[in-house]
Amino acid sequence: MCSIIGYLGLNQAAPIIVKGLKRMEYRGYDSVGVATFTNKQILVRKGVGKVIEVNKTVRLDELSGTVGIGHTRWATHGMVTDANAHPHPSSSGEVAIVHNGIITNHEELKKDLQQKGYAFKSQTDSEVIANLLQYHYDKTRNIKQSMVNTVADLRGDYAFVAVFEDGTLSAARLHEPLLIGIGKEGYFISSDVLGFVEHTDEVIYLDNREFVIISSGGIQIFDFDSNPVHHQITKVSKEFADVYKGEFAHFTLKEISEQPRTIINAGNNTKLELDLATDFIRHAKTLYITGSGTSYNAALVAKFLFSKYAKIKIEPIISSEVHFSPDIFEQQSILIALSQSGESADVLEAVNIAKKAGAKIISIVNIMTSSLAQLSSISIGLGCGPEIGVAATKSFTAQLAILYKIVDKICEGAVGLDLTKVSEAIKKSLSDDSKIQEIAKKLKNVSDIYILGRGIHYPIALESSLKLKELTYIHAEGLPGGELKHGPLALMDSNTYVIMINPDDSTYSDTLTSAREIKARGAKVIGISDKPSDVYDYWVEIPKVDESMYPLVEIIPVQLLAYYAAVEKETDPDYPRNLAKSVTVK
Ligand code: F6R
Repeated sequence: MCSIIGYLGLNQAAPIIVKGLKRMEYRGYDSVGVATFTNKQILVRKGVGKVIEVNKTVRLDELSGTVGIGHTRWATHGMVTDANAHPHPSSSGEVAIVHNGIITNHEELKKDLQQKGYAFKSQTDSEVIANLLQYHYDKTRNIKQSMVNTVADLRGDYAFVAVFEDGTLSAARLHEPLLIGIGKEGYFISSDVLGFVEHTDEVIYLDNREFVIISSGGIQIFDFDSNPVHHQITKVSKEFADVYKGEFAHFTLKEISEQPRTIINAGNNTKLELDLATDFIRHAKTLYITGSGTSYNAALVAKFLFSKYAKIKIEPIISSEVHFSPDIFEQQSILIALSQSGESADVLEAVNIAKKAGAKIISIVNIMTSSLAQLSSISIGLGCGPEIGVAATKSFTAQLAILYKIVDKICEGAVGLDLTKVSEAIKKSLSDDSKIQEIAKKLKNVSDIYILGRGIHYPIALESSLKLKELTYIHAEGLPGGELKHGPLALMDSNTYVIMINPDDSTYSDTLTSAREIKARGAKVIGISDKPSDVYDYWVEIPKVDESMYPLVEIIPVQLLAYYAAVEKETDPDYPRNLAKSVTVK
């Protein structure tokens, strides 16, 4: 989703900002822009496309000045055009802003400002912030008062950074991430620590309803009521520096390959929290689990694990649906919230609804400084390091590993949890992916893929279809095997590929029967299994593991297949079109 960055310091701002924006590309975007302050004026350059492309055409990094702001935009209001790209200057050009989030009352604010003579050039909601700041600045000529008045007028969720005509930076936050980096040669302000990680690891996390004013004299933080606020400086984890692809062609492949290690590490930095959470769960009156996208698929796996091994009923709810059934939570309910980023707006809304009803929140999250971690009673860290590829891979298996650990604790070892063995099995699958690469070539011109699984393998079929959709843009659908004959069989013909998630467990023979029915209609069958069968046109062998552990092993070949099919189709596996890594708008 949109990334924002600001810099004020001793060095030229534009090259630092462009580099920071490149680091944050993984968040997803469609256009980019930079503004700097120099010779008492604000200069703006922007355009549609990747940072590298726009930089080539308009030379963002050659803007001069030691103060600047930058932005990558993921369109919500207004088409993907140069005019809608940020930064947006005010109509007189004395202020320019970059913004992440949605201003819900932008239409009325715009009308009002237009009547007062402020002109607009874009279709965005964001431009009202620039003109609103300008309006209050025209009245007060005081930056602090202009910020206080502006945030009082704005509705919605936002983080924005503004540069003023005297070279001061100011930034405010309401339900969108924003942090300040304190470097030796300057200050940074960004939506993501990756925006400035190569310059400093000293960070101040702004709270909701706070703003900062940064000038050459230093930084001052205030709440929205204008009271000064003091924050401790936090040192961010060194692991954030680990954001290079190394020998890998893409982050996605690197992150898939890290899984033998990341499943072992999952939760290890928060062992006490894991124990505490287990205790809470044991005594919960009612238990829910929520997430979006991949995280929701992990929640579906949890349902099977909890009921089969811990004999505990847990209800998975898609985060974006919680809004429509808020009455399910009660005092002493527990909601487990799964999220890689900890910033998905849908997840945060679900958590807030549950909290209002008196539920306790246990989060399982990768970014321990995220809004979700802050909202939770207990937060367990995925500990899988930064996930840059937009499609979730290692965060999914880390979520599963933690859920397995919790269930195994509750049922005192009945799961037969052996993550070392699973790690070895994943290593084996990764060590020879030539067969998967061969199948990926076949998928290049395919328009529909179905993925079938039964029982606990059905959520893995759903997760497989999500990976294939995101990375290859091929229509893919996950189905419970038994539903085939209730409709989808009508779609099977010789142009269709069907992936069977079919390990050698209690679902095996039923799934094999489905495979035969599919094959009889001419579709091509790819079997993901530890057991060969003549029904498979392509057999992708997975190592044998204990029955309970298959989900962690069987997702790996599908992640690889989606990755290699994307490479075949020449789509960008790290940054799929239209998607954002951190979906901070509803
Ligand atoms: C899928 C994917 C998304 C995310 C979803 C939730 O590959 O990346 O579906 O899983 O947007 O994100 P988090 O887990 O950050 O809340």
